[in-house]
Amino acid sequence: MSIICPSVLSADFSSLGDECRDVLSGGADWIHYDVMDGVFVPNITIGIPVLRSLSKKVDAFYDVHLMISDPAKYVDAFANAGARHISFHIESQSDAADTIEAIHNKGILAGVALKPKTPAEAVFPYLEVLDLVLVMTVEPGFGGQKFMADMCPKIRKIREEASRIGRDDMLIEVDGGIDAVTTPMVSSAGANVLVAGSAVFNKKDRAEAIAAIRKAAEDVSR
Ligand code: DX5
Ligand code: ZN
Repeated sequence: MSIICPSVLSADFSSLGDECRDVLSGGADWIHYDVMDGVFVPNITIGIPVLRSLSKKVDAFYDVHLMISDPAKYVDAFANAGARHISFHIESQSDAADTIEAIHNKGILAGVALKPKTPAEAVFPYLEVLDLVLVMTVEPGFGGQKFMADMCPKIRKIREEASRIGRDDMLIEVDGGIDAVTTPMVSSAGANVLVAGSAVFNKKDRAEAIAAIRKAAEDVSR
């Protein structure tokens, strides 16, 4: 079973609560919340106060993707604001082991994200303690970019290593250019958390878009 996770980066921010309710009632499992600081990536999005307001009004599993230089500094604040999972980038300046521990100390799931140029092996030292690995399938920073099919071997490598160390429960999330056409490639490589921004929010019928992605994932696992 795959987890479908619409990214609010492509939502209408003037009615973010309603946008989230729309995809949740349309079958979304999690809400992907992209945080960018204009330093780690060349874009600025939303942060702690918006998540706090949103999570108070809309009950959901908030999957927070931190694309910021010093994620360790903000773990407590995002967890207190309603994050149920936090992914941070291995390429950031924070110590990975310390950051994972800080996330777990807040009683939520911890994930490490990899940019396209970062090899699978970079996450191997942390696999035993991680809940999730986020494989970027575009350069982080913007929604609506083209899916990088050459990330599939990396997904497969992480899935195989997780399995080798007895972590078949590892969640592998993919983010960037995911839609009903690209889903079969990432699902067959071993991804089971599918982030989709433009492929869901840019569609009039979000339930239909989510169902199409879910079907594409299920057709592979059958
Ligand atoms: C990009 C973000 C993504 C983005 C994906 O850096 O991390 O979550 O919203 O958007 P799509 O699905 O449109 O590629
Ligand atoms: Zn993201």
